[in-house]
Amino acid sequence: MKIGPVTLDTPFILAPLAGYTDLPFRLLCREMKAGLTVSEMISCHGLVYGQQKTMAMMQTVPEERPFAIQLFGNDPEIMGQAAHIVSTHPVDIIDINMGCPVRKVVKKGSGAALMKDLNRAEAIIRTVINNTELPVTVKFRSGWTESSINAPEFAMMAENAGAAAVTVHARTWSQMFGGSADRDVIARVKEAASIPVIGNGDILSYEQGIEMMKETGCDAVMIGRGALGNPWVFQPDGRPETLDKRLPVLLRHLELAGQYLDTDRLLFRIKNHAARYLSGLPGAAGIRQQIIQCPSLQEMKHLLQDLKT
Ligand SMILES: Cc1cc2nc3c(=O)[nH]c(=O)nc-3n(C[C@H](O)[C@H](O)[C@H](O)COP(=O)(O)O)c2cc1C
Repeated sequence: MKIGPVTLDTPFILAPLAGYTDLPFRLLCREMKAGLTVSEMISCHGLVYGQQKTMAMMQTVPEERPFAIQLFGNDPEIMGQAAHIVSTHPVDIIDINMGCPVRKVVKKGSGAALMKDLNRAEAIIRTVINNTELPVTVKFRSGWTESSINAPEFAMMAENAGAAAVTVHARTWSQMFGGSADRDVIARVKEAASIPVIGNGDILSYEQGIEMMKETGCDAVMIGRGALGNPWVFQPDGRPETLDKRLPVLLRHLELAGQYLDTDRLLFRIKNHAARYLSGLPGAAGIRQQIIQCPSLQEMKHLLQDLKT
């Protein structure tokens, strides 16, 4: 699988998840064989104004590469300036978010709102491409509502504008995260486009990823929620059944968090990740309670290490 000049080792990609896909989790997923990782969505305005919190979201390390940075915004000029800034950082791909359904984002004409305005969407893609040497990809949804599904047409627009690949989260804006992803839309996008198509939505296991590629013909799959507490989703054998076998990966996650995050400020985020590793295990509820009560990352590590048999 290639995106422009960038070769992916595997066609399994970690989806951008705001609030979750920070450097430690992305690195862990790369170690667990994800072929590509994507930053959380980054505001083009935040980048152009040089906001420190926004700049920090571009943090990466050589072991993570290939790495994509996702931008969102509705102003072609500012998006172009942001693309130029991104290009001066160690990054392999720029992805443009045209699928975010959150009210705050669509109200400003960004994210999924761009699926209703193909001219503006095209201007954004072209301006971003004109401001970077990096391959540019576009992530969008099936369409705005059930009665206005336009993902195939949108993909062709993106391709003609010069996009190197597209990702389709096969839900409409109006579905938000409800219902289920419609694989038929991914198949239709694949038929319409000649650039690589990445299928996305509801993949919970490696087999389901393979199944989506077979069923729709898409070239790669992107996994979001299914990777939370389950970075084994990028491997054929999947998540182990016992706590003992899960602990080394969870402890590795905590080690990376300690290395790269402000763990005092983001302890709640680390706890949220950690609790998800226990899913389906006997005694999970009790251990989760203990995790929640930990006052520091160090204590969390001790707690989990003591659970080893
Ligand atoms: C908490 C959360 C945060 C998300 N943040 C982003 C984001 O920053 N950029 C983006 O393109 N999509 C974002 N998404 C959408 C996911 O990337 C993905 O398209 C969607 O969750 C469907 O895939 P999944 O079923 O594998 O999770 C987010 C989804 C969730 C649940």
